[in-house]
Amino acid sequence: MLTIDKLNFSYGDLKVLWDIDLEVNQGEIVSVVGANGAGKSTTLKNISRLVKPASGIISFNGEDLNGLESHQVVERGIVQVPEGRKIFPEMTVLENLAMGSYISGARKDREANVERVFSMFPRLKEREKQLGGTMSGGEQQMLAIGRGLMTNPKLLLLDEPSLGLSPLFVKIIFEIIQEINKLGVTILLVEQNVFQSLKIAHRAYVLETGRVVLSGTGSELLNNDHVKKAFLGM
Ligand SMILES: Nc1ncnc2c1ncn2[C@@H]1O[C@H](COP(=O)(O)OP(=O)(O)OP(=O)(O)O)[C@@H](O)[C@H]1O
Ligand SMILES: [Mg+2]
Repeated sequence: MLTIDKLNFSYGDLKVLWDIDLEVNQGEIVSVVGANGAGKSTTLKNISRLVKPASGIISFNGEDLNGLESHQVVERGIVQVPEGRKIFPEMTVLENLAMGSYISGARKDREANVERVFSMFPRLKEREKQLGGTMSGGEQQMLAIGRGLMTNPKLLLLDEPSLGLSPLFVKIIFEIIQEINKLGVTILLVEQNVFQSLKIAHRAYVLETGRVVLSGTGSELLNNDHVKKAFLGM
């Protein structure tokens, strides 16, 4: 579904991605794990075309994304839920969700998608008129994911969805990710919660200073000695 072939990227003189090869097949949950600054968010931004690769090919369902603007990538079905939530604080929960259905293909499904999001996140339904900025951190994360679902994603890019959440919310978020996947949405997940994200991943990649150093199934990586030492404190 998504194929990344020899992606290189620099911020000015600072090279941060080196020959990244990565693949996501339809129906999968694929996790990317790595330390702070490894290049995880930058990889997602290259896919969404929020930044443009220096070299390499990123293709989605056979189409080269090179030359597309980021809104065109969204129309193809690739939707990124950014790191740090980025909801609209002065808008209500319902208004925030509506912002996710602005692309033409998603507008007709707005009502049905709101219902789907509310059944997945009852807490958002209870708070539909509350201002986004007054929601708790975990609730804002739910709202950000819910807004992503309003866009009818085929491939959902999630950047650190569990960051800063209490253990209970972390558990809920990982359950929701699996639920979304079961509804037919393919997921590329970037996480520092290495244990949980490898546990739910069909396959995963380890990034270190901008390079893919390991890949395999989630359980292979959970049992890998390097992963255990570097990320799981074992
Ligand atoms: N806009 C920018 N301008 C310059 N350098 C940047 C910019 N954004 C990120 N970087 C640098 O690129 C490198 C990779 O950053 P990136 O955000 O992709 O890492 P990450 O793996 O997502 O880290 P984290 O786990 O902390 O979110 C880092 O060294 C970072 O300082
Ligand atoms: Mg990041």
